[in-house]
Amino acid sequence: MKLLVVGGGGREHAIIKKLRENKDIETIYALPGNAGMENDAVVTGIGAKDIPAIVEFAVRNAVDFAVVAPDDPLVLGAVDALEEAGIPCFGPNRDAAIIEGSKVFSKNLMKKYGIPTAAYEVFDNMEKALAYLETAPLPTVIKADGLALGKGVIIAETREAAADAVRSMMKDKIFGESGSHIVIEEFLQGPEVSVLSFTDGKTIVPMVSSMDHKRALDGDQGLNTGGMGTVAPNPYYTEQVAERCRKEIFLPTVRAMNAEGRTFKGCLYFGLMLTKDGPKVIEYNCRFGDPETQVVLPLLETDLFTIMQAVRQEKLSQLAIRFREENACCVVMASAGYPQKYETGFALKIPQTLPYNAEVFVAGAKKKDGILVTGGGRVLGVTAVAPTLEEAIQYAYEASDKIEFQNAYKRTDIGKRALAAGKEV
Ligand code: AMP
Ligand code: GLY
Repeated sequence: MKLLVVGGGGREHAIIKKLRENKDIETIYALPGNAGMENDAVVTGIGAKDIPAIVEFAVRNAVDFAVVAPDDPLVLGAVDALEEAGIPCFGPNRDAAIIEGSKVFSKNLMKKYGIPTAAYEVFDNMEKALAYLETAPLPTVIKADGLALGKGVIIAETREAAADAVRSMMKDKIFGESGSHIVIEEFLQGPEVSVLSFTDGKTIVPMVSSMDHKRALDGDQGLNTGGMGTVAPNPYYTEQVAERCRKEIFLPTVRAMNAEGRTFKGCLYFGLMLTKDGPKVIEYNCRFGDPETQVVLPLLETDLFTIMQAVRQEKLSQLAIRFREENACCVVMASAGYPQKYETGFALKIPQTLPYNAEVFVAGAKKKDGILVTGGGRVLGVTAVAPTLEEAIQYAYEASDKIEFQNAYKRTDIGKRALAAGKEV
Protein backbone atom coordinates (compact mmCIF):
# COMPACT_ATOMS: atom_id res chain seq x y z
CA MET A 1 0.00 0.00 0.00
CA LYS A 2 1.11 3.54 -0.75
CA LEU A 3 -0.21 6.37 1.40
CA LEU A 4 0.05 10.11 1.14
CA VAL A 5 -0.09 12.49 4.09
CA VAL A 6 -0.71 16.17 3.39
CA GLY A 7 1.06 18.46 5.88
CA GLY A 8 4.54 18.95 7.21
CA GLY A 9 4.65 19.49 10.97
CA GLY A 10 4.88 17.57 14.22
CA ARG A 11 1.27 16.44 13.97
CA GLU A 12 1.90 14.92 10.57
CA HIS A 13 5.06 13.21 11.83
CA ALA A 14 3.01 11.64 14.66
CA ILE A 15 0.35 10.49 12.16
CA ILE A 16 3.01 9.05 9.83
CA LYS A 17 4.81 7.18 12.64
CA LYS A 18 1.53 5.69 13.83
CA LEU A 19 0.52 4.64 10.31
CA ARG A 20 3.92 2.96 9.95
CA GLU A 21 2.85 0.38 12.56
CA ASN A 22 0.64 -1.15 9.85
CA LYS A 23 2.83 -3.56 7.93
CA ASP A 24 0.69 -3.45 4.77
CA ILE A 25 1.87 0.11 4.24
CA GLU A 26 5.09 0.13 2.20
CA THR A 27 5.47 3.80 1.37
CA ILE A 28 4.22 7.04 2.89
CA TYR A 29 4.66 10.24 0.93
CA ALA A 30 4.64 13.48 2.91
CA LEU A 31 3.41 16.63 1.11
CA PRO A 32 5.42 18.67 1.91
CA GLY A 33 6.82 16.86 5.00
CA ASN A 34 10.10 18.10 6.45
CA ALA A 35 13.69 16.87 6.54
CA GLY A 36 13.24 15.51 10.07
CA MET A 37 10.78 12.88 8.80
CA GLU A 38 13.02 11.29 6.21
CA ASN A 39 13.37 8.01 8.12
CA ASP A 40 9.61 7.57 8.15
CA ALA A 41 8.34 9.03 4.90
CA VAL A 42 9.29 10.15 1.41
CA VAL A 43 9.52 13.91 1.81
CA THR A 44 8.30 15.58 -1.39
CA GLY A 45 8.27 19.30 -0.72
CA ILE A 46 4.91 19.67 -2.52
CA GLY A 47 2.98 22.46 -0.75
CA ALA A 48 0.02 21.46 1.43
CA LYS A 49 -2.16 24.12 -0.22
CA ASP A 50 -1.21 23.27 -3.80
CA ILE A 51 -4.24 21.10 -4.48
CA PRO A 52 -3.69 20.54 -8.22
CA ALA A 53 -0.10 19.41 -7.51
CA ILE A 54 -1.28 17.12 -4.68
CA VAL A 55 -3.87 15.46 -6.92
CA GLU A 56 -1.40 15.13 -9.78
CA PHE A 57 1.17 13.54 -7.44
CA ALA A 58 -1.38 11.13 -5.97
CA VAL A 59 -2.57 9.95 -9.38
CA ARG A 60 0.91 9.70 -10.89
CA ASN A 61 2.19 7.63 -7.96
CA ALA A 62 -0.95 5.46 -7.79
CA VAL A 63 -1.48 6.30 -4.13
CA ASP A 64 -3.97 3.98 -2.40
CA PHE A 65 -5.14 6.33 0.35
CA ALA A 66 -4.61 9.95 1.37
CA VAL A 67 -4.73 11.63 4.78
CA VAL A 68 -5.26 15.39 4.68
CA ALA A 69 -4.16 16.75 8.05
CA PRO A 70 -4.00 20.59 8.05
CA ASP A 71 -6.95 23.00 8.11
CA ASP A 72 -6.11 25.01 4.97
CA PRO A 73 -6.24 22.21 2.39
CA LEU A 74 -9.34 20.74 4.05
CA VAL A 75 -11.16 24.08 3.92
CA LEU A 76 -9.95 24.58 0.32
CA GLY A 77 -11.45 21.23 -0.72
CA ALA A 78 -8.40 18.93 -1.00
CA VAL A 79 -10.50 15.90 -0.04
CA ASP A 80 -13.15 16.69 -2.67
CA ALA A 81 -10.46 17.03 -5.35
CA LEU A 82 -8.63 13.82 -4.38
CA GLU A 83 -11.82 11.77 -4.12
CA GLU A 84 -12.93 13.07 -7.50
CA ALA A 85 -9.65 11.80 -8.92
CA GLY A 86 -10.39 8.37 -7.41
CA ILE A 87 -8.12 8.59 -4.35
CA PRO A 88 -9.84 7.50 -1.11
CA CYS A 89 -9.23 10.00 1.69
CA PHE A 90 -9.39 10.49 5.44
CA GLY A 91 -10.66 13.98 6.21
CA PRO A 92 -13.83 16.02 5.83
CA ASN A 93 -14.93 17.44 2.50
CA ARG A 94 -15.07 21.17 1.97
CA ASP A 95 -18.73 21.46 3.00
CA ALA A 96 -17.98 19.87 6.36
CA ALA A 97 -14.61 21.57 6.95
CA ILE A 98 -16.49 24.86 7.22
CA ILE A 99 -17.09 23.93 10.85
CA GLU A 100 -13.54 25.23 11.38
CA GLY A 101 -13.29 27.45 8.32
CA SER A 102 -15.99 29.87 9.46
CA LYS A 103 -16.58 30.88 13.06
CA VAL A 104 -19.84 32.54 12.02
CA PHE A 105 -20.98 29.17 10.62
CA SER A 106 -19.99 27.22 13.74
CA LYS A 107 -21.51 29.71 16.17
CA ASN A 108 -24.79 29.77 14.21
CA LEU A 109 -24.78 25.96 14.07
CA MET A 110 -24.44 25.74 17.85
CA LYS A 111 -27.20 28.29 18.41
CA LYS A 112 -29.58 26.56 15.98
CA TYR A 113 -29.05 23.11 17.52
CA GLY A 114 -28.77 24.11 21.18
CA ILE A 115 -25.11 23.11 21.61
CA PRO A 116 -23.60 24.94 24.62
CA THR A 117 -21.15 27.71 23.70
CA ALA A 118 -20.35 31.29 24.69
CA ALA A 119 -23.13 33.82 23.97
CA TYR A 120 -22.24 35.89 20.89
CA GLU A 121 -23.14 38.44 18.24
CA VAL A 122 -22.00 38.48 14.60
CA PHE A 123 -21.06 41.73 12.85
CA ASP A 124 -20.25 42.65 9.26
CA ASN A 125 -20.44 46.37 9.96
CA MET A 126 -17.71 48.05 12.01
CA GLU A 127 -19.85 50.90 13.36
CA LYS A 128 -22.40 48.44 14.72
CA ALA A 129 -19.65 46.32 16.30
CA LEU A 130 -18.16 49.41 17.97
CA ALA A 131 -21.57 50.52 19.24
CA TYR A 132 -22.21 47.06 20.68
CA LEU A 133 -18.89 47.17 22.53
CA GLU A 134 -19.94 50.28 24.45
CA THR A 135 -22.11 48.15 26.71
CA ALA A 136 -20.72 44.61 26.22
CA PRO A 137 -19.53 42.84 29.38
CA LEU A 138 -15.75 42.81 29.90
CA PRO A 139 -13.46 41.06 29.23
CA THR A 140 -14.82 40.37 25.78
CA VAL A 141 -13.63 38.01 23.08
CA ILE A 142 -13.30 39.09 19.44
CA LYS A 143 -12.84 36.53 16.69
CA ALA A 144 -12.22 36.92 12.95
CA ASP A 145 -14.52 34.69 10.91
CA GLY A 146 -11.99 32.75 8.83
CA LEU A 147 -8.90 30.63 9.51
CA ALA A 148 -6.52 33.55 10.25
CA LEU A 149 -3.66 31.09 10.86
CA GLY A 150 -5.05 30.24 14.30
CA LYS A 151 -4.38 33.80 15.48
CA GLY A 152 -7.74 35.44 14.90
CA VAL A 153 -8.82 35.56 18.56
CA ILE A 154 -8.31 38.64 20.74
CA ILE A 155 -9.35 38.76 24.39
CA ALA A 156 -9.87 42.41 25.36
CA GLU A 157 -9.89 43.52 28.98
CA THR A 158 -10.94 47.11 28.31
CA ARG A 159 -13.36 48.88 25.95
CA GLU A 160 -10.43 50.66 24.26
CA ALA A 161 -8.62 47.39 23.60
CA ALA A 162 -11.83 45.83 22.31
CA ALA A 163 -12.48 48.74 19.94
CA ASP A 164 -8.85 48.59 18.73
CA ALA A 165 -9.23 44.87 18.05
CA VAL A 166 -12.38 45.43 16.02
CA ARG A 167 -10.75 48.21 14.00
CA SER A 168 -7.62 46.15 13.36
CA MET A 169 -9.71 43.26 12.05
CA MET A 170 -12.44 45.13 10.15
CA LYS A 171 -10.61 48.22 8.91
CA ASP A 172 -6.88 47.42 8.87
CA LYS A 173 -7.63 43.78 7.92
CA ILE A 174 -4.74 42.36 9.96
CA PHE A 175 -6.19 38.91 9.34
CA GLY A 176 -7.10 39.67 5.72
CA GLU A 177 -10.60 39.05 4.42
CA SER A 178 -11.34 36.74 7.36
CA GLY A 179 -11.85 39.96 9.36
CA SER A 180 -14.74 41.24 7.24
CA HIS A 181 -17.09 39.27 9.46
CA ILE A 182 -16.38 39.05 13.18
CA VAL A 183 -17.85 37.34 16.20
CA ILE A 184 -17.92 39.12 19.56
CA GLU A 185 -18.52 36.67 22.36
CA GLU A 186 -18.83 36.17 26.06
CA PHE A 187 -15.61 35.49 27.98
CA LEU A 188 -15.73 32.03 29.55
CA GLN A 189 -13.65 30.69 32.40
CA GLY A 190 -12.56 27.24 33.45
CA PRO A 191 -10.07 24.52 32.54
CA GLU A 192 -9.70 23.87 28.81
CA VAL A 193 -9.88 20.38 27.37
CA SER A 194 -9.17 19.20 23.86
CA VAL A 195 -11.13 16.18 22.67
CA LEU A 196 -10.29 14.77 19.25
CA SER A 197 -12.77 12.27 17.85
CA PHE A 198 -13.15 9.90 14.94
CA THR A 199 -16.48 10.18 13.20
CA ASP A 200 -17.97 8.79 10.00
CA GLY A 201 -21.16 10.81 10.34
CA LYS A 202 -23.02 7.91 11.93
CA THR A 203 -20.83 7.01 14.89
CA ILE A 204 -18.53 9.22 16.93
CA VAL A 205 -15.64 7.81 18.95
CA PRO A 206 -13.91 10.34 21.19
CA MET A 207 -10.19 9.76 21.62
CA VAL A 208 -8.37 10.14 24.91
CA SER A 209 -8.68 13.76 26.13
CA SER A 210 -5.74 16.16 26.28
CA MET A 211 -4.57 19.58 27.47
CA ASP A 212 -2.65 22.05 25.32
CA HIS A 213 -0.34 24.81 26.59
CA LYS A 214 -0.77 27.65 24.12
CA ARG A 215 1.24 30.47 25.69
CA ALA A 216 4.94 30.87 25.02
CA LEU A 217 6.14 31.27 28.61
CA ASP A 218 5.85 29.39 31.90
CA GLY A 219 2.78 30.07 33.99
CA ASP A 220 0.69 30.61 30.83
CA GLN A 221 2.34 33.98 30.26
CA GLY A 222 3.50 35.51 26.99
CA LEU A 223 2.08 35.32 23.51
CA ASN A 224 -0.16 32.67 22.06
CA THR A 225 1.71 30.05 20.04
CA GLY A 226 0.77 27.00 18.02
CA GLY A 227 1.17 25.01 21.26
CA MET A 228 4.20 24.48 23.54
CA GLY A 229 3.29 21.08 24.92
CA THR A 230 0.47 18.72 25.80
CA VAL A 231 -0.55 16.03 28.25
CA ALA A 232 -3.09 13.22 27.91
CA PRO A 233 -5.44 12.27 29.38
CA ASN A 234 -6.65 15.60 30.77
CA PRO A 235 -7.44 15.00 34.45
CA TYR A 236 -10.18 17.67 34.46
CA TYR A 237 -12.09 15.56 31.96
CA THR A 238 -13.71 13.06 34.32
CA GLU A 239 -16.12 10.25 33.36
CA GLN A 240 -19.06 12.47 34.32
CA VAL A 241 -17.83 15.37 32.20
CA ALA A 242 -17.20 12.97 29.31
CA GLU A 243 -20.75 11.62 29.51
CA ARG A 244 -22.18 15.12 29.55
CA CYS A 245 -20.07 16.17 26.57
CA ARG A 246 -21.17 13.10 24.66
CA LYS A 247 -24.86 13.87 25.19
CA GLU A 248 -24.81 17.67 25.01
CA ILE A 249 -22.03 18.34 22.51
CA PHE A 250 -20.56 15.42 20.53
CA LEU A 251 -23.70 13.62 19.32
CA PRO A 252 -25.66 16.85 18.74
CA THR A 253 -22.79 18.21 16.62
CA VAL A 254 -22.65 15.13 14.40
CA ARG A 255 -26.45 15.20 13.99
CA ALA A 256 -26.44 18.95 13.32
CA MET A 257 -23.89 18.58 10.52
CA ASN A 258 -25.96 15.76 8.99
CA ALA A 259 -29.12 17.88 9.23
CA GLU A 260 -27.32 20.69 7.41
CA GLY A 261 -26.32 18.31 4.62
CA ARG A 262 -22.67 18.62 5.69
CA THR A 263 -21.89 15.13 7.02
CA PHE A 264 -18.52 15.27 8.76
CA LYS A 265 -16.15 12.34 8.16
CA GLY A 266 -12.69 12.49 9.66
CA CYS A 267 -11.22 13.82 12.90
CA LEU A 268 -13.50 16.32 14.58
CA TYR A 269 -11.76 18.30 17.32
CA PHE A 270 -13.71 19.84 20.20
CA GLY A 271 -11.99 22.68 22.05
CA LEU A 272 -13.97 22.76 25.30
CA MET A 273 -14.07 24.91 28.37
CA LEU A 274 -15.38 23.35 31.57
CA THR A 275 -17.30 26.28 33.01
CA LYS A 276 -19.26 26.28 36.25
CA ASP A 277 -22.39 26.02 34.09
CA GLY A 278 -21.08 22.91 32.36
CA PRO A 279 -18.88 22.15 29.36
CA LYS A 280 -19.06 24.63 26.48
CA VAL A 281 -17.53 24.64 23.01
CA ILE A 282 -14.78 27.24 22.50
CA GLU A 283 -13.97 26.07 19.00
CA TYR A 284 -14.28 23.23 16.56
CA ASN A 285 -11.40 22.11 14.38
CA CYS A 286 -11.93 19.94 11.32
CA ARG A 287 -8.69 18.01 11.91
CA PHE A 288 -6.24 16.54 14.40
CA GLY A 289 -4.85 19.13 16.83
CA ASP A 290 -1.19 20.06 16.97
CA PRO A 291 0.45 19.23 19.46
CA GLU A 292 -2.49 17.20 20.87
CA THR A 293 -1.93 14.48 18.26
CA GLN A 294 1.62 14.01 19.60
CA VAL A 295 0.20 12.73 22.94
CA VAL A 296 -3.07 11.15 21.74
CA LEU A 297 -1.76 8.87 18.98
CA PRO A 298 1.07 7.35 21.07
CA LEU A 299 -1.69 6.11 23.43
CA LEU A 300 -3.78 4.61 20.60
CA GLU A 301 -3.68 0.81 20.60
CA THR A 302 -5.94 0.14 17.62
CA ASP A 303 -4.41 0.32 14.14
CA LEU A 304 -4.79 3.89 12.85
CA PHE A 305 -5.03 2.95 9.17
CA THR A 306 -7.85 0.49 9.94
CA ILE A 307 -9.72 3.27 11.73
CA MET A 308 -9.17 5.73 8.90
CA GLN A 309 -10.47 3.23 6.34
CA ALA A 310 -13.51 2.49 8.53
CA VAL A 311 -14.28 6.23 8.74
CA ARG A 312 -14.06 6.56 4.96
CA GLN A 313 -16.34 3.52 4.47
CA GLU A 314 -18.76 4.64 7.21
CA LYS A 315 -18.10 1.44 9.15
CA LEU A 316 -16.77 2.95 12.36
CA SER A 317 -19.47 1.24 14.46
CA GLN A 318 -17.90 -2.12 13.60
CA LEU A 319 -14.58 -1.27 15.26
CA ALA A 320 -13.59 -1.37 18.91
CA ILE A 321 -11.10 1.48 19.39
CA ARG A 322 -8.83 1.19 22.38
CA PHE A 323 -6.35 3.48 24.12
CA ARG A 324 -3.61 2.50 26.55
CA GLU A 325 -4.52 3.25 30.17
CA GLU A 326 -1.37 5.33 30.52
CA ASN A 327 -0.33 8.97 30.41
CA ALA A 328 1.59 10.90 27.79
CA CYS A 329 3.41 14.21 27.85
CA CYS A 330 4.81 16.12 24.85
CA VAL A 331 7.35 18.88 25.43
CA VAL A 332 7.86 21.18 22.45
CA MET A 333 11.36 22.47 21.75
CA ALA A 334 11.21 25.77 19.88
CA SER A 335 13.66 28.32 18.51
CA ALA A 336 14.17 31.04 21.13
CA GLY A 337 12.09 34.09 20.21
CA TYR A 338 9.17 32.08 18.78
CA PRO A 339 6.37 33.08 18.11
CA GLN A 340 8.01 36.35 17.07
CA LYS A 341 11.49 36.71 15.62
CA TYR A 342 13.84 33.74 15.76
CA GLU A 343 16.85 32.32 13.95
CA THR A 344 17.03 28.93 12.26
CA GLY A 345 19.65 26.85 10.49
CA PHE A 346 21.36 25.45 13.61
CA ALA A 347 22.57 21.83 13.63
CA LEU A 348 20.00 19.54 15.21
CA LYS A 349 21.41 16.65 17.26
CA ILE A 350 18.85 13.97 17.99
CA PRO A 351 20.22 10.69 19.48
CA GLN A 352 19.16 7.45 17.73
CA THR A 353 17.42 6.29 20.89
CA LEU A 354 16.13 8.34 23.78
CA PRO A 355 15.61 7.32 27.39
CA TYR A 356 12.22 5.78 28.27
CA ASN A 357 11.54 5.06 24.56
CA ALA A 358 10.54 8.68 24.16
CA GLU A 359 9.56 9.59 20.60
CA VAL A 360 10.54 12.67 18.62
CA PHE A 361 8.11 14.33 16.23
CA VAL A 362 9.86 16.87 14.05
CA ALA A 363 7.92 20.03 13.20
CA GLY A 364 10.48 22.32 11.57
CA ALA A 365 13.77 21.03 10.15
CA LYS A 366 15.66 21.17 6.88
CA LYS A 367 18.89 19.85 5.39
CA LYS A 368 21.90 22.13 4.99
CA ASP A 369 25.11 20.70 3.50
CA GLY A 370 23.78 17.23 4.24
CA ILE A 371 23.08 17.80 7.92
CA LEU A 372 19.78 18.29 9.69
CA VAL A 373 19.27 21.85 10.91
CA THR A 374 16.45 23.72 12.61
CA GLY A 375 13.90 25.13 10.20
CA GLY A 376 11.04 26.68 12.10
CA GLY A 377 9.65 28.29 15.23
CA ARG A 378 8.53 25.02 16.67
CA VAL A 379 11.34 22.58 15.92
CA LEU A 380 10.15 19.32 17.47
CA GLY A 381 8.13 17.67 20.21
CA VAL A 382 9.35 14.92 22.54
CA THR A 383 6.67 12.55 23.83
CA ALA A 384 7.02 10.07 26.69
CA VAL A 385 4.39 7.55 27.83
CA ALA A 386 4.30 6.28 31.41
CA PRO A 387 1.92 4.78 33.97
CA THR A 388 1.46 8.10 35.80
CA LEU A 389 1.29 11.70 34.63
CA GLU A 390 4.20 12.66 36.95
CA GLU A 391 6.42 10.07 35.30
CA ALA A 392 5.34 10.98 31.76
CA ILE A 393 6.26 14.62 32.42
CA GLN A 394 9.58 13.74 34.04
CA TYR A 395 10.53 11.32 31.23
CA ALA A 396 9.56 13.74 28.45
CA TYR A 397 11.75 16.44 30.01
CA GLU A 398 14.69 14.06 30.62
CA ALA A 399 14.50 12.83 27.05
CA SER A 400 14.27 16.37 25.67
CA ASP A 401 17.47 17.22 27.58
CA LYS A 402 19.35 14.78 25.29
CA ILE A 403 18.44 16.78 22.20
CA GLU A 404 20.63 19.69 21.30
CA PHE A 405 20.49 22.70 19.05
CA GLN A 406 21.63 26.27 19.48
CA ASN A 407 18.84 28.59 20.59
CA ALA A 408 16.64 25.78 21.94
CA TYR A 409 13.76 26.95 24.11
CA LYS A 410 11.10 24.98 25.97
CA ARG A 411 8.63 25.74 28.71
CA THR A 412 9.54 24.09 32.00
CA ASP A 413 6.00 23.63 33.32
CA ILE A 414 4.16 21.47 30.78
CA GLY A 415 1.66 19.35 32.73
CA LYS A 416 1.91 21.38 35.93
CA ARG A 417 -1.68 22.61 35.78
CA ALA A 418 -2.89 19.08 35.00
CA LEU A 419 -1.06 17.75 38.07
CA ALA A 420 -2.95 20.29 40.20
CA ALA A 421 -6.36 19.09 38.96
CA GLY A 422 -8.65 18.35 41.85
CA LYS A 423 -6.26 20.02 44.29
CA GLU A 424 -7.43 23.63 43.79
CA VAL A 425 -8.60 25.44 46.86
P1 AMP B 1 -8.56 29.63 19.34
O1 AMP B 1 -7.56 30.31 18.44
O2 AMP B 1 -9.97 29.66 18.82
O3 AMP B 1 -8.07 28.27 19.75
O4 AMP B 1 -8.60 30.47 20.67
C1 AMP B 1 -7.42 30.68 21.37
C2 AMP B 1 -7.67 30.67 22.82
O5 AMP B 1 -8.46 31.80 23.18
C3 AMP B 1 -8.46 29.48 23.34
O6 AMP B 1 -7.69 28.36 23.54
C4 AMP B 1 -8.98 30.05 24.65
O7 AMP B 1 -8.00 29.96 25.64
C5 AMP B 1 -9.20 31.49 24.33
N1 AMP B 1 -10.63 31.74 24.09
C6 AMP B 1 -11.30 31.65 22.93
N2 AMP B 1 -12.60 31.93 23.10
C7 AMP B 1 -12.76 32.23 24.41
C8 AMP B 1 -13.89 32.62 25.23
N3 AMP B 1 -15.11 32.78 24.72
N4 AMP B 1 -13.67 32.84 26.54
C9 AMP B 1 -12.43 32.72 27.07
N5 AMP B 1 -11.33 32.37 26.36
C10 AMP B 1 -11.50 32.12 25.05
N1 GLY C 1 -3.64 22.83 19.48
C1 GLY C 1 -4.71 23.55 18.93
C2 GLY C 1 -4.93 23.35 17.50
O1 GLY C 1 -4.43 22.44 16.88
O2 GLY C 1 -5.65 24.15 16.91
